[in-house]
Amino acid sequence: MELKSTVTLHTGRRMPVFGLGTWELTRDTAGTVERALELGYRMIDTAVDYGSQPGIGEALGRTAIPREEIFLVAKVEENDQAYEATRRYLDEMRQDYADLMLIHRPPRRGVGTDLWEGLVRAREDGLVREIGISNYSIEQMDRLTEEAGESPVVNQIEWTPFGWSPEMLDACRERRVVIQAWSPLTRARRLDDDTLRRIADRRDVTPAQVLLRWALQKETVPLPKANDWDHLVENPGALDIELDDDEMAVLDGLNEHWSAVGPAVQYL
Ligand SMILES: NC(=O)c1ccc[n+]([C@@H]2O[C@H](COP(=O)([O-])OP(=O)(O)OC[C@H]3O[C@@H](n4cnc5c(N)ncnc54)[C@H](OP(=O)(O)O)[C@@H]3O)[C@@H](O)[C@H]2O)c1
Repeated sequence: MELKSTVTLHTGRRMPVFGLGTWELTRDTAGTVERALELGYRMIDTAVDYGSQPGIGEALGRTAIPREEIFLVAKVEENDQAYEATRRYLDEMRQDYADLMLIHRPPRRGVGTDLWEGLVRAREDGLVREIGISNYSIEQMDRLTEEAGESPVVNQIEWTPFGWSPEMLDACRERRVVIQAWSPLTRARRLDDDTLRRIADRRDVTPAQVLLRWALQKETVPLPKANDWDHLVENPGALDIELDDDEMAVLDGLNEHWSAVGPAVQYL
């Protein structure tokens, strides 16, 4: 596997198996994204509240890598008018289209069918290529699919050995919805976990690489954020290692429905 390797979405379009997260990637955003692209990263994940959209636009404008080789993921917020917001966020990134636009989280009431309809319009007008969801439970995903008449290509959710859901994994596999793993590095909070360290030391890799490899072997798509140059280089090293069944089982067993951002979310 390499950074350019792809997974096929249920629509037939291909998406890279590994991406760069950009929440709080605010220290020289454009320079960092440009360096990531030079290193071979081909997917960039953003949202309006990350503060990274303008810098991503700058990097995409500067890089020599053709736009069609880059997979840009953005999000509409639950209170947005999806079509208008898509236009606004694209303007902020100086882009004609996003490869994937997600509903950032389910709204308080309903499951966001109106947001979905706005995104369908955006897709018809060529503003987005694919549509997906984020932070949806299985029930919410199914209700949206029923109401919208089509299923999302991606559900982007928090996903680490410390907080994951076998039920969600099975449900997404059955529905051919790809899980994108957010905060796959636990926001650096659990990197010194003893079990994780033991596996990393035995393989002479880093705890971050073990976490990312675990996500990949679960057939999910990790989106590690890294502002630091060494981290940007280190993280794709996960593509070169292979965890055995015992190591995967030990990591699976770390699940305590833990979340890096507060109380456990409902799907965990
Ligand atoms: N859909 C959603 O609701 C949602 C929610 C949260 C996140 N996300 C997406 O998922 C992405 C990733 O999640 P995240 O940013 O919350 O956290 P994360 O990727 O789990 O962790 C990022 C933190 O880990 C550090 N780090 C990176 N590589 C490292 C390494 N090799 N060794 C040690 N530390 C390392 C980073 O430091 P440096 O930056 O200093 O390198 C940063 O402090 C986000 O950026 C965003 O794109 C989506």
